Amino acid sequence: MYNVNMGERLKKSIGSVIFTSDQINNRIKELAHKIETLYQGEEVTIVAITNGSILFVADLIKQLSLPTRLDCIRISSYGAKTVSTIPSIIHDLRIDIKNHNVLIVDDILDTGKTLQCVVDSIKRLSPKSLRTCVLLDKKERREVKIEADLVGFTSPNKFVIGYGLDYNEYYRNLPYIAEFNQC
Ligand code: IMP
Ligand code: MG
Repeated sequence: MYNVNMGERLKKSIGSVIFTSDQINNRIKELAHKIETLYQGEEVTIVAITNGSILFVADLIKQLSLPTRLDCIRISSYGAKTVSTIPSIIHDLRIDIKNHNVLIVDDILDTGKTLQCVVDSIKRLSPKSLRTCVLLDKKERREVKIEADLVGFTSPNKFVIGYGLDYNEYYRNLPYIAEFNQC
């Protein structure tokens, strides 16, 4: 249950800002421009990996003028841990993506296990094309051989919070991305 001490403790764990709200917004405009160019004259189906990509995907699709569809897929999360576990799909797609251009969107590419799991599952549904877009790429942590087609920023090898990224489900609402300091 929330109390004042807990609020103070949560605040103390917000470390230095890594990407400001302005930096994020500007980069999203550039990514949207790239997406418009990639899918010129076509439509795109965005598959957002929730919950982490919610803020990113919401701001990204507002910048798109292409015919755009949106669905979400939910993967088992880290919980309170800051290390990766084996991901599995706990809420699957609701719309038909067969013969559609699919763009998977996630908040951060870390070990690569989550994105690989979603890519494998989407491929089985025979999309017309399949691309991936992540806001952050923590390259040094990769355990699976996977790269995203579109990347917002390279992330330092630190646990980060804010703008959709959580620690134990907190901090997703921060409008910027910061380092997480375990207190
Ligand atoms: P992966 O499967 O190890 O690539 O992890 C990807 C998922 O882990 C992301 O969708 C995030 O939800 C979560 N994650 C990885 N690194 C961080 C981080 O630094 N902060 C918050 N969540 C993270
Ligand atoms: Mg996530």
